[in-house]
Amino acid sequence: MRSHYCGQVTADLLGQEVKLVGWVHRRRDHGGVIFVDLRDREGIVQVVVAPEQKEAFAAAETLRSEFVIQVMGTVRARPAGTVNKNLRTGEIEVAATEVTILNRSEPLPFPIDEYHEVGEETRLHYRYLDIRRPEMLERLKFRAKVASYLRHYLDEKGFIDVETPVLTRATPEGARDYLVPSRTKPGSFYALPQSPQQFKQLLMMSGIDRYYQIVRCFRDEDLRADRQPEFTQLDIETSFLNEHEIQAIMEEMIRGMFKELMNVELPNPLPRMTYAEAMRRYGSDKPDLRIPLELVDIADLLTNVEFKVFADVAKDPHGRIAALRVPGGADISRKDIDDYTNYISTFGARGLAYIKINAEGKEGLQSPILKFLPDDVVNKILERTHAKVGDIVFFGADKAQTVSDSLGALRIKIGHDRKLVENSWKILWVVDFPMFEKGEGRLSACHHPFTSPKVNSVEELMHDPINVLARAYDMVLNGTELGGGSIRINSSDMQKAVFNVLNISDEDAEEKFGHLLTAMRLGCPPHGGIAFGIDRLIMLMTGASSIRDVIAFPKTQTATCPLMDAPSTVESTQLIELGIRVVAKAKDTASKDDNTKDEGKYGRA
Ligand code: AMO
Ligand code: AMP
Repeated sequence: MRSHYCGQVTADLLGQEVKLVGWVHRRRDHGGVIFVDLRDREGIVQVVVAPEQKEAFAAAETLRSEFVIQVMGTVRARPAGTVNKNLRTGEIEVAATEVTILNRSEPLPFPIDEYHEVGEETRLHYRYLDIRRPEMLERLKFRAKVASYLRHYLDEKGFIDVETPVLTRATPEGARDYLVPSRTKPGSFYALPQSPQQFKQLLMMSGIDRYYQIVRCFRDEDLRADRQPEFTQLDIETSFLNEHEIQAIMEEMIRGMFKELMNVELPNPLPRMTYAEAMRRYGSDKPDLRIPLELVDIADLLTNVEFKVFADVAKDPHGRIAALRVPGGADISRKDIDDYTNYISTFGARGLAYIKINAEGKEGLQSPILKFLPDDVVNKILERTHAKVGDIVFFGADKAQTVSDSLGALRIKIGHDRKLVENSWKILWVVDFPMFEKGEGRLSACHHPFTSPKVNSVEELMHDPINVLARAYDMVLNGTELGGGSIRINSSDMQKAVFNVLNISDEDAEEKFGHLLTAMRLGCPPHGGIAFGIDRLIMLMTGASSIRDVIAFPKTQTATCPLMDAPSTVESTQLIELGIRVVAKAKDTASKDDNTKDEGKYGRA
């Protein structure tokens, strides 16, 4: 039906006949001549219909926005003064000889190029219209390019693309599972995979040696701008490589992709930072290094001060007191400080003390806590934080995790508020994660329970599990966790020991993970891998503000699809077949469930 895409008709085709199809972007009538901006996925071209072309003109007169039409015509130069240099097709126009209406369109619920006022719910309800917008189309095209680059790279490196099941059993990544009821085994459920973790490990035990898959994962967790209930991973596993070798291959892939698709040079090798350093300096295991603000520990200066809040925390081995200096921040208003205090209270912080350095000397300091602190302590704090006239220093004192979380988040917020975010790509590996973390009264795996601890024996692990490090690594870009992986456990004894630390008995382990434990005893190579979040990667690369903007048909914040109206109720006959009866959810369980943390039983996402 066509000879060229609209967006590809350029001056190279001057004088040639073309046949185009597309959507009427806009129709303008000018002194007896009709101009039609014709749009397809490659762009827009100007079509001119003169009254002399009687049939074409008659058809053109009936055109409305978003009619689907076919145009035959000749490419000619635009008259002087009407050339549009910003458009690839801006030097030419197509003089139509035939205009055929292929399909009409009712008026759209929102104009394609004035969608800004339109709510996201409406955009998602009419997602097919939303995707007609060049911005959305470009993102989807870019996404396909990324997938293609990654596949080529991995194919070249000898990785084999293997598909793994979607109807499977729960594999712990720390979120809730999506369940699918079984008809053939009433009362039993499949779980949709949170990741193909166990399958990819089993493939190493099959001798596949290098595996990859671009694969959908499902996690029923609280949604945020960078999370979806179903999302795509580039999932990778290798045998006989250590963490340094795996990281080297992955770095080369990401570097190559940024160079090829964005012309961005990332450092070679990527910088590495231990988890401990990341928490200490940035209060986060995914530090955004574009922001030049750092936390500084000061608990050792405060053990004997009068201010009880500080002195108590300073003496608590699980406590932390950190300072965050904002250069030039003495102009931050009282109201802004109150807002920041409220903001960090959502991370559990109980207060936000500060010192403003308005001028040299003691009189130049302004602070609600000055009266509780001896001069020499104040001086030492200012010295350690390198505070200068014009700065403000904020303080957090609490359990270490609370201080890191709250001041870490404040650091990001102030960085954005004061426009301190460097316009660059800051990428790094975070390594030496702890193996376990304390949940409510029990330990959970920091990565997942198949990650190898950095110990030589089961005895060493059991001696002091909370202080054992993991052979795990995350790749972090501009404060977002792009990917995470680890070297895996490959002995069933070590695997059972880790399960024991996680409070999973041998019987429980055998029941849930017997297949894996058995496979580990039947010739299991040393192996390890990683998975990247493709949606997050595309979001960062395209500058989109939400991963919903880089997914063709995403879910809303409440995990619904307004387009298909999913999830939905089903026929009672279907339920009967499945042996399922729906009961109303009691109010108190509902609210309790809503408060459930993302942390699952064995690990966290
Ligand atoms: P992990 O749970 O760290 O590791 O996930 C890997 C990467 O997947 C992305 N990601 C998400 N993206 C969008 N929405 C979500 N809800 C979501 N959850 C995770 C992140 C994350 O870095 N099996 C292990 C990998 C391994 O050990 O090899 C795993 O899934 O970018
Ligand atoms: P108060 O004596 O409670 O009025 O606190 C004095 C100052 O210390 C206020 O600016 C509080 O915001 C701050 N503050 C209170 N508790 C903490 C804490 N745990 N960490 C940091 N600052 C705090």
